[in-house]
Amino acid sequence: MMYGEEPHFKDDEKEFAGLRDVIKKQIGFNCDEYKKAHLKRRLAVRLRANRSTSYKDYADCLVNNADEMQKLKDCLTINVTELFRNPETYNAVSRSVLPELFKNKTKNNTIKVWSAGSSDGKEAYSIAIMMREFMDNSGRRYNISIIGTDIDENILRTAETGTYKTEQLKKISKERLEKFFVKIDENRYQVVDDIRRKVTFKNHDLISGRKLSGFDIIFCRNVTIYFEQKLQERLYLDFYNALNDGGYFVMGKTETLNGSASKLFIPVNPGERIYMKKVNGFQVIQGNITGRVL
Ligand SMILES: C[S@@+](CC[C@H](N)C(=O)[O-])C[C@H]1O[C@@H](n2cnc3c(N)ncnc32)[C@H](O)[C@@H]1O
Repeated sequence: MMYGEEPHFKDDEKEFAGLRDVIKKQIGFNCDEYKKAHLKRRLAVRLRANRSTSYKDYADCLVNNADEMQKLKDCLTINVTELFRNPETYNAVSRSVLPELFKNKTKNNTIKVWSAGSSDGKEAYSIAIMMREFMDNSGRRYNISIIGTDIDENILRTAETGTYKTEQLKKISKERLEKFFVKIDENRYQVVDDIRRKVTFKNHDLISGRKLSGFDIIFCRNVTIYFEQKLQERLYLDFYNALNDGGYFVMGKTETLNGSASKLFIPVNPGERIYMKKVNGFQVIQGNITGRVL
């Protein structure tokens, strides 16, 4: 049974709005535009743990309670992720995106990638491994720089170490395991230095953080799914602006490119949610501007 459905629980919308304000002030987490049902489900976990009978009750318990603030933050930021999550998406990026991207770069250029909402870094390291494999297979070498950003500082600390439990590597092929991971002990593996050096992590809030730019590929997967549509639309425009001309945007398999940004991207592989940024209304194919697509 949902917490809000318990007979003694007061599900008051005004109190709910008040709690959102307290959360914003106390832990700097702006959840105004998170989907209401999702937010209520996450809050219910902490309300239950604190035996709070109303949102107001929980807001009072949160104020100046550092331990509870941290627990709430952990509860609101869902960090579920995995190495090569949806492997078919990585295959499609490797097949359709990387050849085009690399073709247009010289050896002195750096290919810049952003993993937005990177959680514990598995997505960013998977991208780094995919790009290394692509370069090894094509016999070409380029500079690569991958930034992983997340709102959750704790998870970023794990990301920086690149250390994962053995069971989290179950789906990784033997070849990848041997080439890109070192065994630390019976329970843990670490991403090899050579790959870790390509990736940096930063604390960044997609909603209120500084606007980033200059990327060739942006991965933002399984993050906007929790946001209201208006916020999703705003963020997709931010990603459009953050991309270099002809850059690529990769979304989560269950997410939909909506709002005005949808007219600014060309579907490269819609099934895998891979899109390319249009350049001033023109489509870039193999480095040449080919025709008006707006
Ligand atoms: C479900 S994980 C997705 C991880 C990875 N992208 C993947 O697809 O496997 C969502 C991540 O988004 C982060 N997140 C949620 N809201 C955010 C925000 N406003 N700004 C930045 N990151 C956010 C969470 O902390 C969490 O680590």
